[in-house]
Amino acid sequence: MEEKEFSRRRKRLMQMMGEGDVAILPTATIKIRNRDVEYPYRADSDFYYLTGFAEPEAVAVITPGRKHAQYILFCREKDQEMEIWHGRRAGLEGACAEYGARDAYPIGDIDDILPGLLENCGRVFYTMGCDAQFDQKVIGWVNQLRDKVRLGVHAPGEFVTLDHLLHDMRLYKSRSEIKAMRKAAKISVEAHKRAMRICEPGMMEYELEAELIHGFKKHGCVPAYTSIVGGGENGCILHYVENNAELKNKELVLIDAGAEFDSYASDITCTFPVNGRFTAAQKALYELVLAAQHAAFKKIAPGHHWNDPHTAAIKVLTKGLVKLGILKGQPAQLIKDQAYRRFYMHRTGHWLGMDVHDVGDYKVGDQWRVLEPGMLLTVEPGIYIPAGSKGVAKKWWDIGIRIEDDVLVTQDGHDVLTKDLPRTVDEIESYMASH
Ligand code: GLY
Ligand code: MN
Ligand code: MN
Repeated sequence: MEEKEFSRRRKRLMQMMGEGDVAILPTATIKIRNRDVEYPYRADSDFYYLTGFAEPEAVAVITPGRKHAQYILFCREKDQEMEIWHGRRAGLEGACAEYGARDAYPIGDIDDILPGLLENCGRVFYTMGCDAQFDQKVIGWVNQLRDKVRLGVHAPGEFVTLDHLLHDMRLYKSRSEIKAMRKAAKISVEAHKRAMRICEPGMMEYELEAELIHGFKKHGCVPAYTSIVGGGENGCILHYVENNAELKNKELVLIDAGAEFDSYASDITCTFPVNGRFTAAQKALYELVLAAQHAAFKKIAPGHHWNDPHTAAIKVLTKGLVKLGILKGQPAQLIKDQAYRRFYMHRTGHWLGMDVHDVGDYKVGDQWRVLEPGMLLTVEPGIYIPAGSKGVAKKWWDIGIRIEDDVLVTQDGHDVLTKDLPRTVDEIESYMASH
């Protein structure tokens, strides 16, 4: 993404704040995996959204109307020895030259400099509760100013949570964001197809995971979240991530995995037979989930409400489950009683963006949000019937199915970014047979 995209975002945020207000955004901290081994570092999404700066130990300060500099970055200084051990740093010069900061200071000097920026300011925009240590720092800076009131210094009188403004901005994807998300989707589609091609009975779940990771990494991506590869009964565990069981003949495998490209996620689930041919029971349930997904797609267009796709999906699923004898009763009553939740316990989707479960309100007041062009969501109905499900015929046991695509709301409807996947029973069977 180009610097001007980040600068546009900062400008928009400044327009929504007021002159004299100050926004403070720390990036994510480094997380330890074990002893001195760190998890791969990922910047905080809000911070990155405004800065494009991927290094740890950085804080952005945005001060609309300030004469000297309206965008300041605190970051690590250049340090030859540290860079030899741990990698390159932009340094203070790079922060200004490459990332558009008007001023940059060493992160170690923040306690000396930040109180000065808060002196006599209007409101402080900061999201409390994400990083307890940083919260304490902010409170400390404000208290320092309160101690100086007799010297004529005004401490900020009002704190405003920054995420409201920022998360609403993030909900509407720009042209370059949509481009990045199309790319993440495309790379993920190819990786899923790769897993589908090589799958056969006797393989281990992690072997399919390896194909996905290969597909992501080959294009410079990382997994947007831990991949789920669940064969048979494991497909009924929603957040199964062990991925260490054998894939068995006549069972389904459920793969939920997506690449993150340029900090933008995709989120795809494919469910297919390990041996390439659906059994009659698997086919019946798969086609039901697919029909639910199509009913949900139909409700994705400007003017529809957030919940409409979910309502459409549960209607189709409930009716279908009654028809197959898995639920018993009148569909209308079963929907009212949420009887489907025994087999479909999650929602039909979520916002998708820099975070896989992306930010943005789902309700405005007490009303579900109206869909608008530029919003991006997943559509992921499913049915999960673990072995031992009481009152359910054995032929349905151990079938876990989810079908998940990424969908952009457009001016006149929607665009499924992940539409190049084999999706129908016929498409999957012929794809697996011919590769
Ligand atoms: N991969 C997480 C989800 O589908 O929501
Ligand atoms: Mn999802
Ligand atoms: Mn998913």
